[in-house]
Amino acid sequence: MPAHPLSPPWLSPPADAAALPAHVWPSSARRDGAGAITIGGVDISRLAAEFGTPLYVVDEQDARSRADRTLAAFTAAAAAHGTTAVVYYASKAFLCTEAARWMVAEGLNIDVASGGELAVALAAGVEPARLGLHGNNKSVAEIDRAVGVGVGAIVIDSLIEIERVAAAAERHGRVQPVRLRINSGVHAHTHEYLATAREDQKFGIPLADAPDAVAAIRAHASLRFLGLHSHIGSQIFAVEGFLEAARRLLTLHAALRAGGDVPELNLGGGFGIAYVESDEAPEIEHVAEALLAAVASVCGELGIPVPKVAVEPGRVIIGPAGVTLYEVGTTKDVAVTVDDGTAVRRYVSVDGGMSDNARPALYAADYSVALASRTSSAAPALVRVAGKHCESGDIVVRDAYLPDDVAPGDLVVVPATGAYCFSLSSNYNYLARPAVVAVRDGAARVLVRGETEADLLRRDVLANPQGETP
Ligand SMILES: Cc1ncc(COP(=O)(O)O)c(C=O)c1O
Repeated sequence: MPAHPLSPPWLSPPADAAALPAHVWPSSARRDGAGAITIGGVDISRLAAEFGTPLYVVDEQDARSRADRTLAAFTAAAAAHGTTAVVYYASKAFLCTEAARWMVAEGLNIDVASGGELAVALAAGVEPARLGLHGNNKSVAEIDRAVGVGVGAIVIDSLIEIERVAAAAERHGRVQPVRLRINSGVHAHTHEYLATAREDQKFGIPLADAPDAVAAIRAHASLRFLGLHSHIGSQIFAVEGFLEAARRLLTLHAALRAGGDVPELNLGGGFGIAYVESDEAPEIEHVAEALLAAVASVCGELGIPVPKVAVEPGRVIIGPAGVTLYEVGTTKDVAVTVDDGTAVRRYVSVDGGMSDNARPALYAADYSVALASRTSSAAPALVRVAGKHCESGDIVVRDAYLPDDVAPGDLVVVPATGAYCFSLSSNYNYLARPAVVAVRDGAARVLVRGETEADLLRRDVLANPQGETP
């Protein structure tokens, strides 16, 4: 079948419309005898009937084994170079109390980036020593709480923060371990808005200013300097950016050893995943081995011991473990002018959209989609899955093939939505945010309930004179 004139070059009509590519879908995703998708042994139609749509579905076993695999990969790679590794789960990707408990049970620490994420991690019962606090503008209250409960590390992002964290540590009579976030200037190959280590951006301290910043940290008896931190961006496939950041940081790391102990090096997160079939993300073992080999080799050149290496992946752990389930509401064929005439684009509108997945609108992110409640022998049709919001940019899946007979009432599933969908969700157009359901061994349980109309009105104090007040 020839490619559709509106199809992007990376997309081709599927050889098997019912296929669920293993590198994009949760590991337990299957089609049952009737063609319906099951995840964690639970039929998608059953989930829709019981919990409604849209619905976030997380394959618990998959999320946990990706966490375990990531930790194992970095632990083994570190051991091969005579050091140790620590893996922080970047909870901004997806956080609820149960997810935090899964990660800790698998041996990971947790990276939080706000007072809210800190509160959820603490509510989950995570030992504070296993938490790292990030943020380029942590409030004094956030710092105070973090220091007060005894978080294991605070990543300092500006000179002003050195004084704030030191003052909080003095108030609490603690010595607070800190890292210093460096803007290494490395340009990661990713979407512009995701590349956080360019020079002209808000995170971290330029390399050249770091020696003075570390000296300022060391001048405070209430602070203990752990080492440097860099995060070069997100959804990165090529390891070269990480290697270059490691090289730049280690040169500084080596120089800082003259003034005191520098036990760690934190290289952040950002390891990419496959969102569509043609994406070829590196295996996490490959990333870990390449990173640790580069760190060890640079340390060898500099004549210093290999430090403990910390990383902070989020997406690679939780992204592929989650899917979003939608019901099709309308379909519409739109004639579009192309070079040599017109082509038809089919819009398939679903009952969610940019409020449950902001990434296509924010980053032009691509996704794939599958008909979930049945299979079909109809020919593949190029579709654009749109949401129900009042924005033309409200796209869920920009380009994908679905069977030509896709129709209202069909259930469709978008895979690889475990990261940065629930956590970026909103109430735009006063849509109620969907529930998050975990599936495992044929059972489903609600982790976060879906919002109701009452939730939508709860903070409107004039609509609720008897209820919530400011
Ligand atoms: C400082 C920091 N660490 C880790 C992460 C996690 O990135 P990812 O989910 O791509 O691994 C982010 C994401 O933006 C981040 O800003």
